[in-house]
Amino acid sequence: MNFELTEEQKAVRDAARDFAQNVLKPGVIERDTEQRFPKDEVKQLGELGFMGMMVDPKYGGSGMDTVSYVLAMEELSKIDASTSVCVSVNNSLVCWGIEKYGTEEQKQKYLKPLASGEKIGAFCLSEPEAGSDATSQRTSAIDKGDHYLVNGTKNWITNGRTASIYLVIAQTHAEKGHKGINCLILERGMEGFVVGAKEDKLGIRGSDTHTLMFQDVKVPKENRIGEDGFGFKFAMKTLSGGRIGIAAQALGIASGAYELALAYSKERKAFGKPIHQHQAIAFKLADMATNIEAARLLCLKAAQQKDNNENFDLASSKAKLFASKVAMDTTIEAVQVHGGYGFVKEYHVERMMRDAKITQIYEGTSEVQKIVISRAILGE
Ligand code: CAA
Ligand code: FAD
Repeated sequence: MNFELTEEQKAVRDAARDFAQNVLKPGVIERDTEQRFPKDEVKQLGELGFMGMMVDPKYGGSGMDTVSYVLAMEELSKIDASTSVCVSVNNSLVCWGIEKYGTEEQKQKYLKPLASGEKIGAFCLSEPEAGSDATSQRTSAIDKGDHYLVNGTKNWITNGRTASIYLVIAQTHAEKGHKGINCLILERGMEGFVVGAKEDKLGIRGSDTHTLMFQDVKVPKENRIGEDGFGFKFAMKTLSGGRIGIAAQALGIASGAYELALAYSKERKAFGKPIHQHQAIAFKLADMATNIEAARLLCLKAAQQKDNNENFDLASSKAKLFASKVAMDTTIEAVQVHGGYGFVKEYHVERMMRDAKITQIYEGTSEVQKIVISRAILGE
């Protein structure tokens, strides 16, 4: 495996870093406090090509590889995980899913505006009674000949209000279990499609998370992705790629907190010397640096496997499991390094600690990643 970055990959990383520092950082505390979605910032990210990074240029994307995507996700997440989750869902769940499995008509109609950032996408799998247990879909998509009639509720949907294109997983043939599930493309504005209240969250407070309700929504047959009954496999395959994005998000949150803790440990003096000269603090920094490097290597390995068209399911689960733990551990210790200053908003690390937690929950909890990994290593 070669993790040497190309000049192009370095340029993408540097552009994302500049954007994060110059555009995202100034308003990040305010957006978190006010739970404000980064609308203008996401628009700019679209103009710079970050909303359809891996999409073929013929569909309006940037045609980059997954390694570049990981590098960009790390840099954006160092500063603002609320913005980076919007980027991640749009790129690796919605755009990738349509480009990989959609029809040419679906790509022309939906992928193009998503890849350019003109429209934002959402991925709707979770329900009040189907989170980790994702095959227990209650949302129904009844086959009515030329269309499906969709009824049900999805919850926790990222980009819930901002999006205008939604990939909705729903059950068509309940008697077939997961083999009866479909993925349909819904548009906001379809009759019977209601966006519920925004969640008031611990972290990623700038991200808009909503419940969605469907009451007899008529969805044309041509909006189904793949063969009849492909929806659950579609969700699993798409989530394997999505988990690389969330692993990179966790990596970014960790490395952002580490950089702040390192700098602070050199400025802050206690007992007549900078606090990094107390071994207890120096050892925290040593643990952070080591764990972050390991998390980065796991993310890059998963990305490289995806770019090489190898099976990346196991690598993406390992990357997400490990990087999300590193994000949690590192941010807790970064607050500790800052002492009382770490507990207030101005120093950023308290927000990073709150943001880190979600990386252990969404796109498959850590327990779900362990199910995937253990089944793979046990050959089940
Ligand atoms: N690729 C292709 N097919 C796959 C697959 C994969 N990676 N993983 C599973 N499948 C297939 C299986 O082969 C099986 O099909 P067959 O019967 O034809 O062989 C079918 O899917 C069912 O699989 P399992 O029997 O393994 O299903 P399970 O009920 O045991 O569940 C699970 C497995 C891994 C726990 C899965 O349900 C899961 O991933 N749950 C978590 C859901 C999740 O990640 N939700 C995230 C929502 S999106 C989100 O969160 C976005 C955000 O926040 C920003
Ligand atoms: P549950 O599945 O009820 O799990 C509860 C606990 O039990 C967890 O610790 C879990 O790991 C554990 N558990 C469950 N089953 C097992 C098992 N078999 N073995 C061991 N432990 C188990 N979903 C979307 O579809 N789209 C989105 O855009 C989206 N965005 C989200 C944004 C936010 C802010 C949040 C909070 C969630 C989002 N989700 C989204 C939903 C997210 O994917 C689910 O919350 C997650 O998959 C867990 O499901 P659950 O909340 O129902 O927890």
